[in-house]
Amino acid sequence: MWLQFWRDQRTDFHQSVVNPLLSKFWPELRLAQGSRVFVPLCGKSLDMLWLAQQGHEVIGIELSPVAVEAFFSENGLQPTQQQVDAFTLWRDGPISILCGDYFALTTNELGMIDTVYDRSALTALPEEIRGLYVAQLSRLVSDTAVVFLLTAEDAAEDATMQQATGVDEEIARLYTGDFDIALTYVESVFEADPVSAALPCIRAEYKVYRLTAR
Ligand SMILES: C[S@@+](CC[C@H](N)C(=O)[O-])C[C@H]1O[C@@H](n2cnc3c(N)ncnc32)[C@H](O)[C@@H]1O
Repeated sequence: MWLQFWRDQRTDFHQSVVNPLLSKFWPELRLAQGSRVFVPLCGKSLDMLWLAQQGHEVIGIELSPVAVEAFFSENGLQPTQQQVDAFTLWRDGPISILCGDYFALTTNELGMIDTVYDRSALTALPEEIRGLYVAQLSRLVSDTAVVFLLTAEDAAEDATMQQATGVDEEIARLYTGDFDIALTYVESVFEADPVSAALPCIRAEYKVYRLTAR
């Protein structure tokens, strides 16, 4: 499905600017220069460029070679390519992307990771395999890793204003076993219905979580 989406250029999820919640709240993590940041299911996200500009070494994983090629060419980068087990490793300076299946990844290919940036990675997957995604993440990262997780949810069927809610029930269920969960920011906004401007607005909630492995 994803491979076809990329071939057909059905990439509405791609953001043409750096995610504003990333640039606003990431500095609160106070990471050391040179920290390695893992970006699962990275697509061609410009957020990787921003993370590299903050002095991090960025390593993404992405299934689609179309996405990986687009990331480097659209940003004027000239990556080298190298086969690493079942993956093709594309690299230019501080940004590397392993092209292949996240669920087949091991620490042999990924190396040591203590920070993760997740925007539309967990939520890109069907609900029935999100538990496997989190279990795989736990296996891949260090015992004290921090996951900076951004989520976006439609908060209500109608457009009535309610109090911003707390930790999403699914996030709590998926991560509680291996991570401490802190919800650090919630933004509640009314947005036009993407189907038609004639429909009532939808209330969306954007949340920033800091998950700490234990
Ligand atoms: C919703 S997009 C999000 C991309 C990126 N995080 C962003 O913010 O633009 C999800 C991405 O995950 C990739 N993907 C889906 N399943 C994958 C898997 N098993 N391994 C690696 N990448 C995968 C898709 O090709 C797609 O680019």
